[in-house]
This record gives sequence, C-alpha cells and structure tokens, in this order.
Amino acid sequence: MWTSWWINSFAAGAEFTTFYYYTILRVNAIGFDGEGLKEIIEDARIEDRNHFEVLTPRIYELRGALPRDIRGLADVAGCPDAYLPPG
Ligand SMILES: [Fe+2]
Repeated sequence: MWTSWWINSFAAGAEFTTFYYYTILRVNAIGFDGEGLKEIIEDARIEDRNHFEVLTPRIYELRGALPRDIRGLADVAGCPDAYLPPG
C-alpha cells in the first residue's frame, strides 16, 4: 500500500534531482544565448528548490523520512537521472 509520505518522497526526489540538474545547467550555460538562458534556468532552479523545501517537512509530518543517502533519494525520484550531454 502506498502511503502519502512515500508518494511525497517520490516527488521530493524528483524536485531535488531536478534542482541539482538545473544548478549544473546554469553553470554551463554559455555562448551567445547563455546569459539569457541563465535567467530562465535560475527561475526553474529556484522553483524546484522551493517545491523540495515544501515537500520535505510534509514527509516528516506524515511520519515518513527521506532516504539517508543521495543515491536513495535519486532512486525514489520516479524519473531518470538528469545529465548534461558531454560538451
Ligand atoms: Fe517542481
């Protein structure tokens, strides 16, 4: 049976891994459009960080917990790991 906190853990994992990806993407946004893209990437990055920060206390309110290691968090993210293409 799926508990509410477990479903929130899926979502928190997805938000955190996306936040992580956007952080790397922002640092690597270069070139002609790079500066304009950085603003868009930063907005998305902050939005996902905020989602993660809202979900996390809710998980603990529901007597759940986040995985204690980052690999565990990524594994429950419910989406594949994000990566930058080799550049
Ligand atoms: Fe999000």
